[in-house]
Amino acid sequence: MPRGRFITFEGGEGTGKSTQARRLSARLRELGISVVETREPGGSPAAELIRKIVLSGAAEPLGPSAEAMLFFSARDDHLETVIRPALERGDWVICDRFVDSTRAYQERAGKVSGELMRALERSVIGDTWPDLTIILDIDVETGLERARGQSGGAGDRFEDADLDFHKAIRTAFRAIARREPNRCVLVSAHREPDAVAEEIWKKVSDRFDLSEWTGEAAAAGASESGETDSE
Ligand code: TYD
Repeated sequence: MPRGRFITFEGGEGTGKSTQARRLSARLRELGISVVETREPGGSPAAELIRKIVLSGAAEPLGPSAEAMLFFSARDDHLETVIRPALERGDWVICDRFVDSTRAYQERAGKVSGELMRALERSVIGDTWPDLTIILDIDVETGLERARGQSGGAGDRFEDADLDFHKAIRTAFRAIARREPNRCVLVSAHREPDAVAEEIWKKVSDRFDLSEWTGEAAAAGASESGETDSE
């Protein structure tokens, strides 16, 4: 079984990322691919503790650099205990938010220095960069309206930030998609979830040879080795 593939979903508030991550995971599983569905901040017991601290706003007085370091501490544990072992087993990992959220929320909108960010990325992520990052894009007002509708108005530390902060986040995500076209695809979320899911499926199935991970490949592999044995 080859190493699994690592796909991340990114975007501002109310883009429907989590729904799309779930739908993609379900579709891959239907083909017999083993999928680990996870999220950030969080995804491992220790990282979920840090999630509580950052999303409650308790770390806000420490400033955006310290918050960024907390996100990376959580990420370090998540990578070490969940993501890397899964990829090595041949599982696919679908993660709702990852490093591009820190780039957008803390670096761009929170003005954390690029120097600190690159150092954290090098030491924590190393070479475990996503194979594909799907950035969902939506107009900020529409996204916030959707997000606040879902949370009943009780937002977290970041959802409650002002409009300019959210505009900076959208600009940051769009810039990341432009700068890293090999890793990232920008997908418009101004449509019905079914249409968005179809576009995402097309990007994923065009990019990866899924038969390497499905039963089909296992069956082909078995018959090939059968032939070798009989020679
Ligand atoms: P979450 O409840 O997972 O919401 P969403 O549905 O928007 O993903 O909240 C995660 C929040 O944390 C979200 O507002 C973005 C923020 N965040 C950062 O600021 N930096 C990060 O590195 C990550 C992963 C998330």
